[in-house]
Amino acid sequence: MITKIIDTSDIESAAKCLKNGGTVVFPTETVYGLGADAFNPDAIEKIYIAKGRPSDNPLIVHISDISDVSFLARSITPNAKILMEIFWPGPLTLIFKKKDNVPDKVTAGLDTVAVRYPSNETARKLIKQSGVLVAAPSANLSGSPSPTICEDVVSDLNGRVDYIIDGTGCEIGLESTVVDVSGNETVILRPGGITLEMIKEYIPNAKLDGGLIDEKTIPKCPGLKYKHYSPKAELIVVQGERENVRKYISSKLNKSRKAGVLSYGEAEYENAELIINAGNNMEEYAHNLFSALRTFDKKGITLIYAEFNIEDGMGVAVRNRLYKAANHNIIEV
Ligand code: TXA
Ligand code: MG
Repeated sequence: MITKIIDTSDIESAAKCLKNGGTVVFPTETVYGLGADAFNPDAIEKIYIAKGRPSDNPLIVHISDISDVSFLARSITPNAKILMEIFWPGPLTLIFKKKDNVPDKVTAGLDTVAVRYPSNETARKLIKQSGVLVAAPSANLSGSPSPTICEDVVSDLNGRVDYIIDGTGCEIGLESTVVDVSGNETVILRPGGITLEMIKEYIPNAKLDGGLIDEKTIPKCPGLKYKHYSPKAELIVVQGERENVRKYISSKLNKSRKAGVLSYGEAEYENAELIINAGNNMEEYAHNLFSALRTFDKKGITLIYAEFNIEDGMGVAVRNRLYKAANHNIIEV
């Protein structure tokens, strides 16, 4: 398959492709998505094949107008309504009880459906012009970090999809917050740019899913049970006060192994092959994490130490992705 890589001035041909059952990669405010017509099971099949994704992992349906929810959701709970009004369009995915005509291929047979109204302008134009609702997982090969720059999309999916739109976006850098509002409770299944604190301002009893607090509980968000977001290199998270973290990493580094450090703030390490600064706060860390992991791989690094400290807010989402990327290889100092 020949993939057409286009810029945002040619959204129209990509939109036609979606309408005709093809696959299109597009930027969003979180990460790049790999889209297909949500109501066309043959088109959905192409997503699973392109990504090499297990088919028991359901997809998010992207819409370009709040009223599109009515095509997908059987009912909208009062809490859902509040979150839609406050945070849409934006990096928030809501789980609703699904209508019967939503294909099983999208929901992996669940009786719920995940819906997101993205704020990225290219994403919105593409969905609107296509005239269909767009099922889209992150545009990476299954298991590798979600792409936040076009170059990383191309290296994973060139030759496997019809179109890649090279656009701007991915300011957040981690996938959307997934919130179950299908029942009486409001539960965050996957942390992201819309934090628990932000949601609690409007729904005080909203909470994190048990699987996010206690690592041993099986998470309800099916995608979170897979090994995920991983670089090819071995990744070790070193967690604690900055000074202790840096002492520990320094003591472990030696020239015999091509090791890299993902630092939290500017750092110097004598024996590191490559140091990438993830930033000075958790928003920056989120924005840089996935592209940094991919850069270490590109540069041939085989062992990465990530400096980290537990924080609330965006720190919850960073911790979730970082721990998974490290396969829970965490050292507390
Ligand atoms: O920011 C994002 O959400 C990106 C962009 C492209 O929009 N998309 C994304 O999709 O991250 P994906 O497929 O990589 O992750 C979707 C997550 C998975 O963990 C999946 O298990 C969960 O949402 N999910 C989808 N439908 C669900 C449902 N009905 N109930 C619970 N979790 C669901
Ligand atoms: Mg994904």
